[in-house]
Amino acid sequence: MSQEGNSSPAWLEELQLSDVLTSDAVRSLHATIEQEWDFLRRSACQTAAGRALWSHAVHDPIAAVLAGESYLRSLYEKMRQDKLNNAQEISGVILAVRTLWFDSRLEAAIDSFVTRPAQVVLLGAGMDARAYRLNCLKESIVFEVDFPELLQVKASLLKEVMVSSKEHQISMRAKSLIRVAADLREGDWIEKLQKSGYLPERQTVWVLEGILYYLPHLLAMQVLEAIAAGCTSTHSVLLADFMNKSSVSLSDSTFQFYSDWPDHLLSSMGYGQVKLSQIGDPDAHFGLLSDSQNLFHKLRRLPRSMEIDPDDGTPCRRLYLVEASN
Ligand SMILES: C[S@@+](CC[C@H](N)C(=O)[O-])C[C@H]1O[C@@H](n2cnc3c(N)ncnc32)[C@H](O)[C@@H]1O
Repeated sequence: MSQEGNSSPAWLEELQLSDVLTSDAVRSLHATIEQEWDFLRRSACQTAAGRALWSHAVHDPIAAVLAGESYLRSLYEKMRQDKLNNAQEISGVILAVRTLWFDSRLEAAIDSFVTRPAQVVLLGAGMDARAYRLNCLKESIVFEVDFPELLQVKASLLKEVMVSSKEHQISMRAKSLIRVAADLREGDWIEKLQKSGYLPERQTVWVLEGILYYLPHLLAMQVLEAIAAGCTSTHSVLLADFMNKSSVSLSDSTFQFYSDWPDHLLSSMGYGQVKLSQIGDPDAHFGLLSDSQNLFHKLRRLPRSMEIDPDDGTPCRRLYLVEASN
C-alpha cells in the first residue's frame, strides 16, 4: 500500500479511545483477559483490534471495546511503523479484507436461501460482532460457539457498551443470538449446538473465520468433516479461511492446520461447488490493495504450487478464502 494510496487509515496520527473503553468496568474485564486467558482465547481480541483500527473500511463500532486498550495500542503502533516505513502493506489489511469477504459472502449465502429463518453458525466466534452489525441477519438465528469464559466476558463487555454509551447506538441486528459454550477439542460441540436449538435440516451458513489454523491437523479435519456430513441433506454454505503450508511453517508459529489445496479438500468431502479466492482477487480486494507492487498481487501471479518466490527466495505465504456449498 503506497503512502499516497487512498486505502490507508486517515486517522493514523492519533489513537482515540472512547469513554466506555477506558471505563473501570471495561478495563477490569480486559485485565482478566490479559491475566487469565491463553493465546488461543486472546487471539479473539487481536482480531477485533484489526477491525477496530480499520474502521474506515470495516463498520464494527463495538470492535474497539471488545479488543481492549492493549491490543489496540499494540496493533496501532505496528500500523504507525508501517506507515512511517512506507510499507507496501499496513498491518491489519489482511484482517480487514478477510472480514469484508466473509461479510459479503455471508450476505450472498443468506440471499440464496429460499426458506427462513436461516441459521448462521460462527465457529470460534471470538469477539465477532456480526449479530450486532449486519442487517442481512435480520431473519437469521445466529449461534456463536467458543470457550465458555470467552463468551461470558464478551457478553459483559457488550452489556457495558449498551448501558454506558449512547453514541454507539448498538442493537441486535440478527433475529436471535444464541451463545454456545463449547471446546471444539471435546468433540461434543455439535450436540451442544443441537441442544441450543440448532436444527441440522435448516439452511445454514457455517462461518469459520480465523479458526482452522489454530487447531491441530486432526481436529481441524474432524471439524470440517462433521460440518460436511451434516450438509448433505440440506442446502448449506461453508465459509472458511485456510493458511497454506508456508504460512504456518515459521519457527515461532502458533498456527497448526494448513491446506495448500483447500478447494480440493472440500470437494473431496462432498461439496459440489467450491470457490477459492486469494487476498487481492476481485472479490477479495475491497479497494484496500491499491498498490500494484503489493505482496498479495505478487503472490496471485505465481502458481499456487510454488512454495518459494523465485525472484527473492521468500516463502509464498498465502491465505485462502473458500466458499463451499452442496
Ligand atoms: C483468531 S480468533 C477468531 C475469532 C473470530 N472468528 C473472528 O474472526 O474475529 C480464534 C477464536 O477461536 C476460538 N477457539 C480456538 N480454539 C477453540 C476451541 N478448541 N474451541 C472453541 N473455540 C476455540 C478462540 O477462543 C478464538 O475466539
